[in-house]
Amino acid sequence: MEVVIAPAEVLASVAADAVQTLLRTRPTAVLGLATGSSPVGVYDELARRHEAGQVSFAQAQGFLLDEYVGLPAHHPEAYRAVIEREIESRVDLAPGAVQGPDGRADDLPAACAAYEAAIAEAGGVDLQILGIGTDGHVAFNEPGSSLASRTRVKTLTEQTRADNARFFGGDGAAVPRHVLTQGLGTIMDARHLVLLATGRAKAEAVHQLVEGAVSALWPATVLQFHPHVTILLDEAAASRLQLAGYYRQAFAGKPRWQDV
Ligand code: GLP
Repeated sequence: MEVVIAPAEVLASVAADAVQTLLRTRPTAVLGLATGSSPVGVYDELARRHEAGQVSFAQAQGFLLDEYVGLPAHHPEAYRAVIEREIESRVDLAPGAVQGPDGRADDLPAACAAYEAAIAEAGGVDLQILGIGTDGHVAFNEPGSSLASRTRVKTLTEQTRADNARFFGGDGAAVPRHVLTQGLGTIMDARHLVLLATGRAKAEAVHQLVEGAVSALWPATVLQFHPHVTILLDEAAASRLQLAGYYRQAFAGKPRWQDV
């Protein structure tokens, strides 16, 4: 696990570098696309680099992490619509290259199984962008999630609904209670995990993720078992880390030839 502590624009650039390098060496790469505010800077930077002719997504594929259950397809906060708006429409991803779990399916468990099959058929995710919830969730794997879970229906905690109310005009009651989410086991199958967190509200979840005991109570801690994880933090999100000095020293002394 590599921890980078830097200003938000540097974090976005480091994540964009990882995506750009991957697409250069493997144009057909499969990208894992997260929603929420954390990846927005990365998507802005990738759109800027695409505009400048530095990166092409023409042969790439994308998979969303999660989706609300029951929102109309074109609801602006349906995660499929968010990804379309924030990255897909701004780069040259081919029509149909991005998929998400179908939160409007009549048979939700079947939709979850079909989603797992689609990811497997694409050859698995090469690089997964992640955020983290204040309660330590990744995607929508709330505390208590099986560390081996696959794509399934989950019930949101009231804390997550309150956190996400800002996307629904501040109305917590408008945030759906149920979601489809890649499981922790699904996310752990991705070959490189790049997690971004900013702001003091994330500091405890980040401390647990990087330095806490692995536990379903803090679902993101399962990432400690992954061989290739990059954790990108601003000062506030890193403010509770015990070994912050060491992480800074390691990043400052990183050999030039070594990618994240
Ligand atoms: C949401 C999403 C997660 C996201 C997290 C943090 O509920 N399902 O994928 O990482 O919460 O969101 P934000 O980046 O807006 O703080």
